[in-house]
Amino acid sequence: MTDATTETWLILGATSSMARALARKLAERGAGLLLAGRDMDDLQATAADCSFHNASWAEAIRFDARDPESFGPIVDRMQAETGTLNVAVFVGSMPPQEEIDAQPEMIDGVVSDSFTGPARLVHALAPLLEARGSGTIVGVGSVAGDRGRVGNYVYGAAKAGFHTYMSGLRNRLTRSGAHAVTVKPGFVDTAMTWGLDGMFLVAPPDAVADAILTAERKRKNVIYTPFFWRYIMMIIRAVPEPIFKKLSI
Ligand SMILES: NC(=O)c1ccc[n+]([C@@H]2O[C@H](COP(=O)([O-])OP(=O)(O)OC[C@H]3O[C@@H](n4cnc5c(N)ncnc54)[C@H](OP(=O)(O)O)[C@@H]3O)[C@@H](O)[C@H]2O)c1
Repeated sequence: MTDATTETWLILGATSSMARALARKLAERGAGLLLAGRDMDDLQATAADCSFHNASWAEAIRFDARDPESFGPIVDRMQAETGTLNVAVFVGSMPPQEEIDAQPEMIDGVVSDSFTGPARLVHALAPLLEARGSGTIVGVGSVAGDRGRVGNYVYGAAKAGFHTYMSGLRNRLTRSGAHAVTVKPGFVDTAMTWGLDGMFLVAPPDAVADAILTAERKRKNVIYTPFFWRYIMMIIRAVPEPIFKKLSI
């Protein structure tokens, strides 16, 4: 239990290098951290690093987006904390589109990882933030959700669903004083993009973490990170469909 002046952050998908960079920065400002994911060894190592770097406390907790039974203990753990409750969602999976094309049943897993699993847990946590009239939910989507393209449209569709969910959640939370920010990264140097062809303007995970903290402080609604992806995606969205459908971008 912490006192009312502290902030608690639940980080879903805390093995992501973007999430790890955010956790370190939150630790340095003294936050309490609940690091959630599937790889407990990795999460415990990050928790130890955060404790060393001034977190008021840091713990690992099991979370599997495809296993709703893992959600209840996380909600209970958050409820036990006083002060401001915050959530950052980094969960997502992007299997190669060709694998999904060969096994369409994989679509369910991608949608669970990148949209419905985290949304269902966030939905159970939203009333806690509303009751306290404070806190921020950060949802990491993707520029891939802005327009479906041949190379990753199942992942993109899941992210588009998540963006729409975040938009509605923001609309809901603003009534109580809590907030939701949608984060749309471009290409970031992480495990997800390791070895992929066609990457350009690749950002370091640390820059995404900095952008998230600025967005949280300024209560931004939707950010692209790095910022120039907003303009790249404006152009991509403006390409007329008869032309767009013939492109392989
Ligand atoms: N890298 C990019 O260029 C890029 C661009 C735009 C958006 N994004 C988004 O940024 C976020 C972080 O991705 P990343 O690039 O850092 O890649 P990553 O290392 O693969 O991170 C994905 C995270 O999601 C977790 N995850 C996947 N399926 C899960 C499940 N069923 N249950 C619980 N956790 C699950 C992974 O946990 P495990 O370690 O257990 O697999 C990992 O923590 C993702 O939402 C991704 O879509 C990335």
